[in-house]
Amino acid sequence: MDAFKAIVTRRNIKEFKKDPIDRARLMSWLQTAAYAPNHRNTEPWEVLTVGPQTREKLHHKTNFAGAPILLAILSIPGKTELEHRENIIAASCFAQNFCLAAHADGGGTRWSSLGASESAREVLGVPQGYEVIGLLAVGYPEQIPEPKSRQDIESKVKELD
Ligand SMILES: Cc1cc2nc3c(=O)[nH]c(=O)nc-3n(C[C@H](O)[C@H](O)[C@H](O)COP(=O)(O)O)c2cc1C
Repeated sequence: MDAFKAIVTRRNIKEFKKDPIDRARLMSWLQTAAYAPNHRNTEPWEVLTVGPQTREKLHHKTNFAGAPILLAILSIPGKTELEHRENIIAASCFAQNFCLAAHADGGGTRWSSLGASESAREVLGVPQGYEVIGLLAVGYPEQIPEPKSRQDIESKVKELD
């Protein structure tokens, strides 16, 4: 699958198959994601694999759509406000890369912002200064929803003198 097709056909998955994902395959998606742009090559992301007991305590309304794997993607703290912001941006690129890599290789992801809440941070044991970019449920999709249309990009483009 080429990059254009992967970007356009990736969807937030609503339901996953029960089939497990091989650890080596998961690691290959994460390793691919690490080619995300990041200032000074600091690779300012960390990944928590969330086991069943911790996952239960998150009380997600759909139990993360039945995905066999749940990840929390974190950005590490920055020494300055700018670095902190850049780390969040780079870790977000990492998260998106991961979603695309999984999709291009037959997997699927579902992004949840639940991890950013104080209670979820506590359950996950997120250290102070780290930001939770998202919880990513990962598995093989039961179904891939049709692409949602997007606004015409012309309306978002401003041309400066
Ligand atoms: C920062 C962020 C937070 C999100 N949080 C949630 C969420 O809490 N629950 C959810 O169902 N989807 C969440 N999503 C996924 C969006 O709902 C989804 O990407 C959007 O509906 C567009 O659909 P698509 O990804 O299938 O194109 C989140 C996405 C991002 C980038």
